[in-house]
Amino acid sequence: MTAQLIDGNALARKLRAEIAARASHLKERGTVPGLAVVLVGNNPASEVYVRNKVKACEDNGLHSILDRQPADLSEADLLARVRQLNDDPAVHGILVQLPLPPHIDAQKVIEAIAPEKDVDGFHVASAGALLTGGLGFWPCTPHGCMKMLESIDYDLRGKHAVVIGRSNIVGKPMALMLLAKNATVTICHSATSDLAAFTRTADVVVAAVGKRNVLTADMVKPGAVVIDVGMNRTDEGKLCGDVDFDGVKEVAGWITPVPGGVGPMTITMLLANTLEAAERAAKQAEAAP
Ligand code: GUN
Repeated sequence: MTAQLIDGNALARKLRAEIAARASHLKERGTVPGLAVVLVGNNPASEVYVRNKVKACEDNGLHSILDRQPADLSEADLLARVRQLNDDPAVHGILVQLPLPPHIDAQKVIEAIAPEKDVDGFHVASAGALLTGGLGFWPCTPHGCMKMLESIDYDLRGKHAVVIGRSNIVGKPMALMLLAKNATVTICHSATSDLAAFTRTADVVVAAVGKRNVLTADMVKPGAVVIDVGMNRTDEGKLCGDVDFDGVKEVAGWITPVPGGVGPMTITMLLANTLEAAERAAKQAEAAP
C-alpha cells in the first residue's frame, strides 16, 4: 500500500472531544444544545441511523429528543410538528430523517424547518447560503469530507477536484465547498461520457455515487487524494464504498477507508452544526435587550 489512510474514526473522536468541551462551556452559560430527530415510520436503516445520532448526542453532552411518528402520519400533521419544534427554545437543531413515506412531500417538510435550526443543511436557505458564501449550515457529509482534507493540511488552491455524483445532499454541496477553497472543480455523473478521462487528471476525487467500483486504480493519478462517500455491500454482505479500495490504495497518495472513513464524520458534523445552532441562539439571546 502506498496511500496514507485518512482515519475517519480518529478524526471524529478528536472533533467530538472538542464539541463536547464547547457544549459543556455553553451549558455553564445556561444553554444545553438540543437536537430533535423526527422519525416517521420504522424503516430499518433509518432506525439504525437515528439511534446512532441520538447516542452521539448523549455521548457528547448534547440533549436529543427522538420524536417517533407513525408511518401513516399525515403531511399536515408532520408540518405542524415541525412548526412546534421551530417554536421550542430548547430545540436548536431539527432533523427529519429521510426517506419519508411516499405520501409526504419531503422537500415541503424540509422547507418548513426554520433555517436557523436546519442542521442537516437541506433547506433552500442553507443551500443558498453555501452558494453565496453566507451564514447557514453546510450538509454534514460533504462538510465532513472537507474536515478530512483539512486534517491532512491539504491546500486545494489551484488543484483539480473531481466530484462523482450530483445529489443535493453530497455531490452539489461538495463541489461548492471545494470551489470555495479555490479548487478547479468538475462534477461528473451518470451521463458523463468518459469518467476516467476526468478522474485521471484529478488531484482530489470524491466518489459519491452509491455504486461499487466506480473508481478503479487505472482511473487515478498517482498521489491523488481519494475520498469515498459510498456505503454499499459486497456480494458477501461486507460493507464497502464506491472505490475499489484494494486497487486504488496502491496508486493514491491518500485514501479514506469504508467503513471508518467518511461515515463517522457525518454524525460528527451533525453534532457540530447543532452546537453551532445553539451557540448562535445563545448569542442572540444574550444580545437581546
Ligand atoms: N437519511 C440518510 N441520511 C440522512 C441524513 O443525513 N439526514 C436525514 N435527515 N436523513 C437521512
